Amino acid sequence: MPAPWRCVVADSLKPRPAVLEMAPYHPPTGGRRNKLRLDFNENTVGAPPHVIDFIKRYLTAADLSIYPEYENTLQDLARHFDVSIDQFTLSNGTDEAIQLLINTYIDDGDEVLTLRPSYAMYKFYSQLAGARVEELDYRPGTLAFPLEELLERITPVTRAVLISNPNNPTGTGTQLPALRKILEKAAHAPVLIDEAYYEFSGVTLLPLLDEYPNLFVSRTFSKIYGMAAMRCGCLFSQSANMAYVRKAQSPYSVNALAAMAVRIAVEDQKFVEDYVLEVLTARELLYVGLERLRIPYIKSQANFVLCQVGDRAIELRDELRQRGVLVRDRSYELTGCLRVTVGTRDQIRRFLDELEQIW
Ligand SMILES: Cc1ncc(COP(=O)(O)O)c(C=O)c1O
Repeated sequence: MPAPWRCVVADSLKPRPAVLEMAPYHPPTGGRRNKLRLDFNENTVGAPPHVIDFIKRYLTAADLSIYPEYENTLQDLARHFDVSIDQFTLSNGTDEAIQLLINTYIDDGDEVLTLRPSYAMYKFYSQLAGARVEELDYRPGTLAFPLEELLERITPVTRAVLISNPNNPTGTGTQLPALRKILEKAAHAPVLIDEAYYEFSGVTLLPLLDEYPNLFVSRTFSKIYGMAAMRCGCLFSQSANMAYVRKAQSPYSVNALAAMAVRIAVEDQKFVEDYVLEVLTARELLYVGLERLRIPYIKSQANFVLCQVGDRAIELRDELRQRGVLVRDRSYELTGCLRVTVGTRDQIRRFLDELEQIW
């Protein structure tokens, strides 16, 4: 006989319509240890050793027993990003940054404009808020950024524009003049430029914060800094905007360990520079290998490459997995496409070796 509480819960708890209508999102994050992980655009060599050393040596019982205090981290990051403390907030990954922007500016039924394909969480948080999500397609074939179409689609009812630059999963980047046009056309709405892969492209809007009152920029410690497990990022905008955003933020959403680790992480820019150099070299190696196998690909501004492998995409992903190499299937949104994270040259050589054997 079922416990009485089960019937009560099943019959009476109905979620909001926005939740009922959302498709569940299941990232394939299980069983990835001990494999070559070219599936999540992470840093494939791991977190900076000096961050791990610091945590091991200096973490105290008090650090874990008290609620997080962010002042020192905010000061260090403000210096690092060359902004003032009131121009940004720490966030629990970019994901919280997106959610904060939505929670601060979007009401039920509002229009949110984004691109397709792009990072899934723009649509996720917008739908969760009950927004109307308008998705504009990257140009078919070339996957070029649809600037003219986007400018046309921005209207007085557009309540937010969410853009990943470089874009995941296409790897394509958009240059400053195009982004300026978007900011100007959408002057009445927040425009988020998600710079999760900035370090690989070198294009950032952060220095334009003072110029555009509707500009929001997000950065993350999950990618180049190798700290995805820490869940830490930053959301930047003008201080008047950030005052509202902070009102909408839980006071302790970033854990103390993450707040401690990111302070240490930004101290070692050589780690970042060396890794960028390694990835950019390995990306060239990947291009050459793909060309040898006659696999079309999209030139990337980030640490991943979209490969057009045709109708065997899922089969190839599964066979690579059996061989210990993880890549991401994107064929559900881009026909015949796999996305391959670029790691070190050795890792890309291994990927190409395995691919060659099953191609
Ligand atoms: C464009 C983009 N933004 C944000 C994220 C996630 O960032 P975080 O781990 O900081 O939430 C990803 C992860 O794949 C991404 O591709």
